[in-house]
Amino acid sequence: MSKLWTDVDRFITDRLVPEAVELDAVLQANAAAGLPAIDISPAQGKWLYVLARAVAPRRILEIGTLGAYSTIWLARALPPSGRMITLEYDPKHAEVARANLARAGLAAAVEVRVGKALDSLPRLEKEGCAPFDFIFIDADKHNYPEYLAWSVRLAQPGTLIVADNVVRDGAILDGNAQDENVRGIQRFYEALAAEPRVSASVLQTVGRKGYDGFAVAVVG
Ligand code: SAH
Ligand code: DHB
Ligand code: MG
Repeated sequence: MSKLWTDVDRFITDRLVPEAVELDAVLQANAAAGLPAIDISPAQGKWLYVLARAVAPRRILEIGTLGAYSTIWLARALPPSGRMITLEYDPKHAEVARANLARAGLAAAVEVRVGKALDSLPRLEKEGCAPFDFIFIDADKHNYPEYLAWSVRLAQPGTLIVADNVVRDGAILDGNAQDENVRGIQRFYEALAAEPRVSASVLQTVGRKGYDGFAVAVVG
């Protein structure tokens, strides 16, 4: 990873992301619990928050919670009556996430659902939790195409769908990729291109998380 990217990331964060200082407690709690440090960066968190604020979502869905770092950024974009549901496979991650959400004063606004997202998503539909106005996809990359299909299904016109890690150091260019995560992202691009209900593009990113990108898609 380039030192320049990291230095510029710090420059941006120092100037535009004062929230990063206080939210560092979340990352420290995650590290203390042994969670992998694969959360979005502070500058990316603020970027998602700004994007979500522009959408003014009443309901937010996240697929892939980890320790709720991204969850907290997004939940802060909700109005007082807004609600967020975040899906997490690993019960230990969910437990750390719930503690972090409680400390952030977001326990009532955010529900952490444990289980495979592909099991939870149909239940959300049956329970009438949809439509969601903002959806963040950041769980296992292998299932990204299925997560996109469910996101569209649980959306309404105007819903914004954002997906993390869609460039992966350019690994997506390898047509013979064996890594199922890379293949999942490649199939995700195919699914996005073939989905008539969304208009989509990708923003490549560099920074303290290296070289990667966010997909953004608007429904309707
Ligand atoms: N959004 C978080 C990072 C998520 S890391 C942040 O930026 O702060 C990806 C998470 O997805 C991990 O916690 C992992 O346990 C979870 N995950 C992996 N497979 C999953 C599945 N099938 N269903 C739900 N969550 C899954
Ligand atoms: C990984 C997952 C992520 O969501 C991410 O942003 C970075 C890395 C991973 O599984 O390695
Ligand atoms: Mg990610």
